[in-house]
Amino acid sequence: MVEYRLALPGADAEVEGQDVITGLRQTPKALPPKYFYDDQGSRLFEHITALPEYYPTRTERGILLAQGSAISQRVGACDLVELGSGSASKTRILLDAYQQQGTPLHYVPVDVSGGMLEDTAHQLLRDYPALTVHGVVGTYDAALAHLPAAKFPRRMVAFIGSTLGNLPPQRCTAFMQQVAQALEPGDYFLLGVDLHKDRALLEAAYNDAQGVTAAFNLNMLAHLNWRFQGNFDLSQFRHVAFYNEGDRQIEMHIESLRDQTVTLKDLDLTVPFGAGERLLSEISRKFDLDQLGQDLQRHGLQVLHTFSDPQGWFALLLCQRP
Ligand code: AVJ
Repeated sequence: MVEYRLALPGADAEVEGQDVITGLRQTPKALPPKYFYDDQGSRLFEHITALPEYYPTRTERGILLAQGSAISQRVGACDLVELGSGSASKTRILLDAYQQQGTPLHYVPVDVSGGMLEDTAHQLLRDYPALTVHGVVGTYDAALAHLPAAKFPRRMVAFIGSTLGNLPPQRCTAFMQQVAQALEPGDYFLLGVDLHKDRALLEAAYNDAQGVTAAFNLNMLAHLNWRFQGNFDLSQFRHVAFYNEGDRQIEMHIESLRDQTVTLKDLDLTVPFGAGERLLSEISRKFDLDQLGQDLQRHGLQVLHTFSDPQGWFALLLCQRP
């Protein structure tokens, strides 16, 4: 059985598109990474995860394969709330571990891409006969503030794939507080994060030879075009990505190739771009495990286990609200 619902906007929800107006009026320009993920953007991201240069997904998958049964044994029957579920291809490893153990699981995927959510839910229900699914279309904030009633006594909120890295430090700590608040004492938080490493490896992962990451980045403009009746000409912008070592973050920018003016009709917004001007479309932070553990602890989440790969590129942290 699959049900869907739209997450209600959180108390701090803004008017639709207000964040676009704010982001395009400020200097330097910046937009929230959630605008990557229309259905086309979600497909492009899936393509990225299979690229030879993009190590995070396959590294995290390796950790899950090695540690999935340790996690399912420790946590046991639960409501698994996954923030940003996408195609749930890595989540399947955890579902496999639960199935093998014969431990029941109620899966609550949360995603802003409704089409992706629906496809994923139906495929999982076909492949895991014992699984129940309750999809939530919405943002993390809204979903955490309005979690559906739990089916089992325990919840595990999963935020894998290093999506935490998209949040600047302040919003990151606010997010940790939100998670801790959404959990009951004894509930779990499973966090997957990419770690600081050699610049060349990092920059290759965000500048792939096939140009899929470039298409993913520019697709944000196409998304804004259909969503807000815009007239971005994608051929007049280019993809830029580099490692900002001081802030330990990959930055993705969309650079204007010439002086131009763009209009988003539905937002009553006209925006000038100078030649060479950059719009920040994403930060992807690369964490330090000691620092991250301290931050989690400080915001009410205790790290029980840290699982990593042999090269120490990526980490999966099983945390608990004490
Ligand atoms: C899904 C946010 C983890 O930061 O690596 C991939 C998104 N951006 N290539 C990341 C992304 C460019 C990805 N996250």
